[in-house]
Amino acid sequence: MKACLFDLDGVIVDTAVYHFKAWRRLANELGFDFTEHQNEQLKGISRMESLERILSWGDVSLSPEEKETWAARKNEWYLAYVRQMTPAEVLPGVKDFLTTLHKNGIKIALGSASKNAPLILERIEMASYFDAVIDGTHTTRSKPDPEVFLLGAQALGFPPSDCIVFEDAVAGIEAAHRGGMKAVGIGSPEVLTEADLVVPGFTQLTLDQLFAL
Ligand code: G6P
Ligand code: MG
Repeated sequence: MKACLFDLDGVIVDTAVYHFKAWRRLANELGFDFTEHQNEQLKGISRMESLERILSWGDVSLSPEEKETWAARKNEWYLAYVRQMTPAEVLPGVKDFLTTLHKNGIKIALGSASKNAPLILERIEMASYFDAVIDGTHTTRSKPDPEVFLLGAQALGFPPSDCIVFEDAVAGIEAAHRGGMKAVGIGSPEVLTEADLVVPGFTQLTLDQLFAL
């Protein structure tokens, strides 16, 4: 292991909750609802692809212009949460873990589908922790396509086999594997069934566990 690639939403910070709230508001305003279980399918998926899935759950069809309008609305609701974020929202153990990686000469990249990733890193004052940042403005294909992680590995200068991905999304674990990388799931083993290792958070993770992968 020479490099680690981190998803953002749900791994570094719990913005996954804010995405869920904003998408649910959109669904409610369109006259339907969806469950937290369904929401798992949205994690790691781009904004427009998420919208398509939600509309199909509600059996709602919109014109391309209406889709753009609703996606922009959702993003405004989401950003209202993001603008209030502080460094205190970084998930437990994350900063210590990244510092340990650095001290051990391991390179670190962000691999997120979010176009808001740079803003979030700024809000939580963590931009300096990453040697490279790949976000939704750099990619054309959503997870489970491995593009975002392959670009991250390339930016750090290592082959996929030297990289480990950290993900809270089923689609993200699949993206890592399709890119030829190991995947550590952050969350529940019942959800992240394909991960090579699952931990509830970074306080429960040691470097030795990573080297053992
Ligand atoms: C991440 C999240 C998704 C989100 C996507 C796009 O992958 O897990 O829930 O839809 O980013 O985020 P954005 O901030 O660009 O709408
Ligand atoms: Mg995520």
